Order: sequence, then C-alpha cells, then structure tokens
Amino acid sequence: MSKNTLSVKDNRTGKTYELAIDNDTIKATDLRQIKVKDEDFGMMSYDPAFGNTASCKSKVTFIDGEKGILRYRGYPIEELAKKSNFLEVAYLLIHGELPNKSEYDSWVHDITHHTYVHENIRKLMDGFRYDAHPMGMLLATVGALSTFYPDAKDIFDTDVQKLEIRRLMAKTPTIAGFSYRHIMGLPYVYPDNELSYAGNFLSMMFKMTETKYEPNPAIEKAIDVLFILHADHEQNCSASAMRNVASSHPDPYSAAAAAIAALYGPLHGGANEAVLEMLADIGSIDKIPQYIERAKKGEFRLMGFGHRVYKAYDPRAAIIKDIAHDVFEVTGKNPLLDIALELERIALEDDYFVRRRLYPNVDFYSGLIYQSIGLPTSMFTVLFAIARMAGWLAQWLELLNDPETRIARPRQVYLGEDNRKYVAMSRRRKKK
Ligand code: CMC
Repeated sequence: MSKNTLSVKDNRTGKTYELAIDNDTIKATDLRQIKVKDEDFGMMSYDPAFGNTASCKSKVTFIDGEKGILRYRGYPIEELAKKSNFLEVAYLLIHGELPNKSEYDSWVHDITHHTYVHENIRKLMDGFRYDAHPMGMLLATVGALSTFYPDAKDIFDTDVQKLEIRRLMAKTPTIAGFSYRHIMGLPYVYPDNELSYAGNFLSMMFKMTETKYEPNPAIEKAIDVLFILHADHEQNCSASAMRNVASSHPDPYSAAAAAIAALYGPLHGGANEAVLEMLADIGSIDKIPQYIERAKKGEFRLMGFGHRVYKAYDPRAAIIKDIAHDVFEVTGKNPLLDIALELERIALEDDYFVRRRLYPNVDFYSGLIYQSIGLPTSMFTVLFAIARMAGWLAQWLELLNDPETRIARPRQVYLGEDNRKYVAMSRRRKKK
C-alpha cells in the first residue's frame, strides 16, 4: 500500500523525514524540521518567482497550461465567451455559481445603480496632468475611493463585502472612462443606466453631442467578450498582489489599487500596449525577420508572446483572433494585423520559439481590436483592469473566507554581511 507521504533523506545528517502529501503538495513549513544542528532555523524552500509554490487553495479558476485549458468555476472559457456575458461571468467568479434569473437581475441592477462617483472624485481626476497615463489615474483614483467609503474597512461584515464588491464593479468603468476623457481633453461623460455594462463604458468614452449614445452592437459585443476573457487568471502577478495586500486586512479599494499597480507592468497587463508599440515599430512585413533575430539574441522580447503557465496556444488568444475579424468588419482592417499574423506565423515555425513553447498570449491580438475602435494604446491595460476587477474581487472574497489565511510574509535567504561594528563617518575609507 502506498503511503501519502514523501520520504526525504538529508545526506548531511543521514536522517530521513516523512512529509505529508496533500493535493500533490507538501507544506513548506514541514521542511523546517530538517536541521543539521538543533539551533538551526531549519530548511526552507527557495522559489523567488513562485514558479512552483501554491500560495493558496482556490476554487475560482483552473488552468492547464500544457493543454491550453482555462475554466472559471469549472466552465470552459470558450463556452462562457460564446453563451454568457461579462456581468454573469463576474457573478459566477465572485459567488461560485451561475445566477438564476432573479439573482442575475438584482446583480445587474445593483451594479448599474452604483456607477456614479462622488463629485470630488471627478475633481480629484481633474487635478491630473493633461498627459497623465490612464493606468496611473485609475490606480490612484481606485485607491482614493477608500477615503470616500471609510466603512469599507469592516471587511469581515458580509453586507460591507457585498456593497464594496458592487461599488468596485460599478465604479471602475466610470473612473476608466473619465481617465480617457481626461487625456483627450474632453468633458467627462456620466454613466447611462439604460446601457449594458460594455455599452455604458463605450458611452463614457465616446459620447459627443448626441443626446443618447448608441453603441455599435458588434463593438459592444466584442468588448463584453474581451471582458469575459480577461476576468480572471488564477494566481497571476496582480491577483497575488491583491491577495498579498488584502492579507493585512486593508479595505478592498487599497488592495485593488495594489492589484492595478501590478497589472500596469509591461510583463503583465501592460503587454497589450507594448505589443502595439512593437508592431508599429516593426512597421512592415519585410522587417519581421530582423526583429525575430533580435528577440532570439535576447535583445528584446516579442511582446504578446510566451506565458508563465501556458505552454500551448493561449485559449484566450484564439477567441480574440476570431472577434478581431468581427470588429474589423465594422471598423475596417487594422493595418497592423498583417504584421501580427506574419509575425505569429514565422515565430511559430522558428526553433527558438518552438523549443521554448512560446505562443501568442491574450495580449497579442487584443490591442489590435482596441486600436481599431479608436482607443489610444495607453487605455489598453485599463480595459484589462476593468475586466480583472471581477477576478480580483473573487480572489479577495476567497482569501477572507479561508481559515488558513494569515498575513502574507515570505522568508528570505540572507546572504549579506554578518554582524559588523558601526564606523564613524570620519573614519570611513574613500570608495574606489
Ligand atoms: N520573446 C522572446 N523570448 C522569450 C519571450 C518573448 N516574449 N518570453 C520568454 N522568452 C524566452 C526567455 O528569454 C527564456 O529563454 P532562455 O531559456 O533561453 O533564457 C525562456 O523563453 C523562458 O522565459 P522566462 O522569462 O523564464 O519565462 P517566464 O515564465 O518567467 O515569463 C512572461 C513569462 C510572460 C513574462 C514572458 O514570456 C514575457 O516576458 N513575455 C512578453 C510579455 C508578455 O507578453 N506578457 C503578457 C503575459 S499574458 C497576460 C498576462 O498574464 O498579464
């Protein structure tokens, strides 16, 4: 009979330890019993980028990176993208089950009726420089919401959780829309409660003198599907930031601001902006081979390629590629599409990319859609953030309800100086 344990022999001492196995993991703290001398701290695992460390138990999102599978609460992403809508998917992520009709109606109603922000939020946003990056505005303003809702600090009160989740879902697109209008030098557009979640967001960005903004159905649908595809992705950099910060028990606005900051970086959500800059820089199909060569030499990274988890085609990229064609029928083809398609074709045949299993990820084609509907590159990651708010909130709620949650506090391997005596400044040698 096989035992559910791992036997570890420490060859320094000859001792053998039995470590319990649970869900194919061992507890890193069980390693602490492994010591050479009694006074030793004990063994730790070393995993600087958390490449093989499970930081929590989760029931939200499942990814099989080898097979290119992504499921929210067990539902395949392809099916949700085809049959559901973003607010229903957000409900599913946060509550764990698909809503029935009355649950869905009240969820949509509540989110729709929390879209307005305090006028001082508008004034606060007015204070940003004319060329402020919209992600910087979003992260600062979502953080600032914490000061408008001080009761949000009562994070274990289930009514507070419910209310703040609705507020964050509702107000993030409003702040995002305001940030777009700000960089365009246009007056802010207030939410329109008669429109869908995606339609209202488009209205807050693009409404001009018309009395009623009517979103193009194909574009509204594309934005909604893009929101579904970006809604969660298990323990990625920004979800981990959300959980890490939330583990010290601040209000959810502060934790969400940290998650937005993590998403901002070009290796995470900022990649969609970087992809468009890269495609524009390449400029024409004949220049692709030289860029591929530069990427292979390590001079730069092919943005929108590669993923820590997916070692197969990112299922989200495949869906986005299809939506892109629907959008281009309305907007006309994005001239950078041909460069993107050819870049993908060449890269997928190249041994460097094949061996490292580098495929297009979610960001490779999404930017082309955003650009075609008239958004500047600086807004791309903002759209990612609107969608990912659903996932961050699902991760937040799961963390709060997990009895194993403690403040996140990693260990380190200290390699610095041993105990030293302080030297007076007058006696310090000049550095060479
Ligand atoms: N272009 C060229 N080479 C690459 C790329 C790329 N985009 N990505 C990885 N590699 C190479 C890398 O140089 C390394 O080669 P070697 O083994 O010779 O040193 C190997 O592939 C493994 O790379 P890694 O850096 O160890 O992989 P990682 O898991 O730490 O990084 C990543 C994952 C997504 C940060 C990385 O693939 C990357 O920088 N991609 C470009 C940025 C991007 O598109 N990010 C969006 C990710 S999807 C959306 C999201 O989750 O936010």
